[in-house]
Amino acid sequence: MANAHPHSGKLGGHNLTVVHNGIIENFAAIKAELLPHGATFMSETDTEVIPFALANALEHSAKTLAQAVHAVNGKFHGHYAFVVMKQGDATRMVGTRRGAPLCVGLGEGANYLVSDPLALAGITSRFMYLEDGDVVVITPKTVEITDENGKPAKRAVKVVDQSADMAGKMGYRHFMLKEINEQPAVVSRVLQAHTNSSTMLPALPLGKLALGKVPFINIVACGTAYYAGLVGKYYLEQLARVPVNVDVASEFRYRNPPYVPGGLFIAVSQSGETADTLAALQHAKAAGQHTLLLTNVPTSTMARTADTVVNLLAEREIAVASTKAFMAMITTLALLALQLAQARGMASADVAGHVAHLRTLPTILTSLITEMSHEKGTLAQLAERLQEAKSMLYLGRGSLAPMALEGALKMKEISYIHSEGYASGEMKHGPIALVDKELVVVNLAASHDGLFEKTISNLKEVEARHGQIVLMTDAAGANQLRESGQVHSGMVVVEIPAVPQALLPMAFAVPLQLLAYFTATMKGTDVDQPRNLAKSVTVE
Ligand code: G6P
Repeated sequence: MANAHPHSGKLGGHNLTVVHNGIIENFAAIKAELLPHGATFMSETDTEVIPFALANALEHSAKTLAQAVHAVNGKFHGHYAFVVMKQGDATRMVGTRRGAPLCVGLGEGANYLVSDPLALAGITSRFMYLEDGDVVVITPKTVEITDENGKPAKRAVKVVDQSADMAGKMGYRHFMLKEINEQPAVVSRVLQAHTNSSTMLPALPLGKLALGKVPFINIVACGTAYYAGLVGKYYLEQLARVPVNVDVASEFRYRNPPYVPGGLFIAVSQSGETADTLAALQHAKAAGQHTLLLTNVPTSTMARTADTVVNLLAEREIAVASTKAFMAMITTLALLALQLAQARGMASADVAGHVAHLRTLPTILTSLITEMSHEKGTLAQLAERLQEAKSMLYLGRGSLAPMALEGALKMKEISYIHSEGYASGEMKHGPIALVDKELVVVNLAASHDGLFEKTISNLKEVEARHGQIVLMTDAAGANQLRESGQVHSGMVVVEIPAVPQALLPMAFAVPLQLLAYFTATMKGTDVDQPRNLAKSVTVE
């Protein structure tokens, strides 16, 4: 299981070893109960409480290890999964899950317990996903499941195609670079699956969802998926004219938000397992909202919870820093906005016109990636300079404001350079105090969004305070600056091809991802597995 270390505990005649994911919230109280029974703890971890609690249950009430697991599930609070073995019995494992993921991998003459099927890529493609409260006992030949009430239960066998995971890095130095390069193919796949090639209209599989009547939308997610949600708000409001709230899942779930009756709740999650997003989804579902999930893992816990599931079709993303899944998220959200717009009266010809623009994306992305990946290109040279940077500020307006946040996140995740993203208009309200000759300010600006002049005035303010300026803009923007003599020797201009306004977030994603990637590789950090981060955060 991800990030899990085994812990052992011996009490009475029972010596047990446990591997655990998640958090036992009331472990201190359980520990206090166990101390008088002779438990001797070696650590301060919640994990260590599990083997002692199980051994204690076996001493007093439970006849089998499975019964003991059911007994402790009744006492533990929190969001967790664990697997336990009796020392000396290597042929039997017992596992359970409450909130955190756990599934059974069915092999040839061997069975496995894993939190993520990826761990068994190349070993088996057949999995049983456990439900909350399930307890499973596996031996090399048998799998027995009991549900949360201790009743025998059957769970469907799902086939998870992991051939893409087996392909490895395909000659790329890192998974992240491979995944950046896969983005044109991902966008093609999304458009092919979710648009009608003869009518050019969006065709997301939304089942019975009455799109024309949706009065309000909540989008909830974490990390990069949250920034995709912010881009989605822009599309949904601009194209479909539906009011949208976007929230980080951890805030949303604890705020007990009032829901608009008949509202649509959209969870966005690459993994479909992020604990906070899952909890928010459950909250919205319980409140009677229609829940729609955009996920890359249609077998995930969230997918089994949501009313409607749209597969992001990005295929497995391995690098911790999300790139191709983000691209799939924003493309899918653009299609959703168009489908909603059509249901609310936008003329089919206009909708089809927007889809036609989206269909140019794979070609645009391919040439952008090729051009920008050049080892001696502007981005690589800039990255060389950034190795020494201590602090960076990313600024953008309109749909590029969330891209500034995402660009800063990519940079901090993998290069460990302190980076903040802000809406450009907020610069005067605080960040400007940080500007000095050390600060690198990355400005994202499209020349045709009517806001270019304002961006230039932001740049002048940075320049006046000797900040280091990077301007990412289209050819027309770069020309406008050059013609007015405003490109100074220290300023780096990263030129992006002119694209229709709706494609700006996708086009700007590429240089932002590559800039972070180049900087990280030059600094020598662990690009695919950055320190302290996990691909899927299944605890709060
Ligand atoms: C972690 C990952 C991020 C990801 C976030 C949300 O923090 O490191 O890359 O954006 O979780 O993950 P999700 O699977 O819900 O999209």
